[in-house]
Amino acid sequence: MNFSFFKKSNRCLGIDISAKNIKVVQLTQESKRLKLETYGYLKVKDFIQETEVENRKINYSDKTIAMLLKKVLKECKATTRRAIISTPASSTFSVLIKMPKMSDEEAERAIPIEAKKYIPVPIEEVILSWEILKKDSGSFSLKENSDSHLLEIILVAVSKELIQKYAKIAEIAKVELVALESESFSLSRALVGKEKEPMVIVDIGISSSNIIVVEGGFVVMSRTIEMSGNELTKVIADGLNLNFKRAEVLKKDIGIKADDAEKQISELMLPLINSIIEEIQRVFELYYQRSNKKPKMIIMSGGSANLPGLMEYFIENFDIPVSLANPWLNVIYPEILNPALKELSPFFSSSVGSATRGTV
Ligand SMILES: Nc1ncnc2c1ncn2[C@@H]1O[C@H](COP(=O)(O)OP(=O)(O)OP(=O)(O)O)[C@@H](O)[C@H]1O
Ligand SMILES: [Mg+2]
Repeated sequence: MNFSFFKKSNRCLGIDISAKNIKVVQLTQESKRLKLETYGYLKVKDFIQETEVENRKINYSDKTIAMLLKKVLKECKATTRRAIISTPASSTFSVLIKMPKMSDEEAERAIPIEAKKYIPVPIEEVILSWEILKKDSGSFSLKENSDSHLLEIILVAVSKELIQKYAKIAEIAKVELVALESESFSLSRALVGKEKEPMVIVDIGISSSNIIVVEGGFVVMSRTIEMSGNELTKVIADGLNLNFKRAEVLKKDIGIKADDAEKQISELMLPLINSIIEEIQRVFELYYQRSNKKPKMIIMSGGSANLPGLMEYFIENFDIPVSLANPWLNVIYPEILNPALKELSPFFSSSVGSATRGTV
């Protein structure tokens, strides 16, 4: 009787490790629907000296991260250790290339050679993968009326060093690493899915923001910028001569929705918000040049999407709909969790996306 084995194999953790947070979601498939079994969240600075995590990159040891990961898994009573971990979008290089039509066997040989032209680091230092956007099926093409004798290929390269780091963390934390994937893929799965129309995900975290264009289930463009939650807090702290903690509280309480009495705070943050908007517009332009298409919607993700007034400000500044990420849309969970999950939606998008991949 190995009934439990089947159950185990479609149960998976999605793990998102950033420089400051570890987020975990456990999903399972039940009657062809995704079910949330548990979730957990840990702020690294509550456990580690702040100086150790000052840098943008994860610079504390694999052992420390593994210890914290174990802690969060224990606290949220996760019942599986099968996991997909998302890697920062900034550490994954992806590019869309065109090559003459060829057989799958030819492509296997030709693509790695062609890839050398596009990957900015030595090819030996990365693990390469690719996806051919099948044109001949007529189901999907990035550019309307484009040449039918060309294949469009999405190339993805991840540094071997980064893969080894995450494999080590998983090993120490006794987590069975089913796969590693770029968080842009996790976010795209959780928030857009197979939608044919192009959509843009704007993920504003603590130390970086990602602008991701998704079309037909593929990440076709992705850009990472440094402007994000920390910079917003810093500009308040510097401008009003406050400590970081106090500035963080004011940011979350007041945001950019301020009335006259609190205008000072929103005025400090607005130039940064405007620079994020300009970056998004630049991505729109690049995407238009490449595809002659305009994204149909912006989906706001990451903790900073909760900044009071931010959604309204984006709605004013773009002529397409803007919505807040809801990774729980296709997930069933006990109703009692509704208010908590709603507030945590933008935080958990990446973890939900990774866990989803491991449940099928
Ligand atoms: N209500 C709120 N208003 C404004 N900012 C908020 C709010 N809640 C959380 N944040 C900000 O969200 C950020 C955390 O977001 P998130 O958890 O998505 O980051 P992360 O994934 O850990 O980091 P990164 O993606 O940059 O590696 C912090 O900068 C925090 O100040
Ligand atoms: Mg993040």
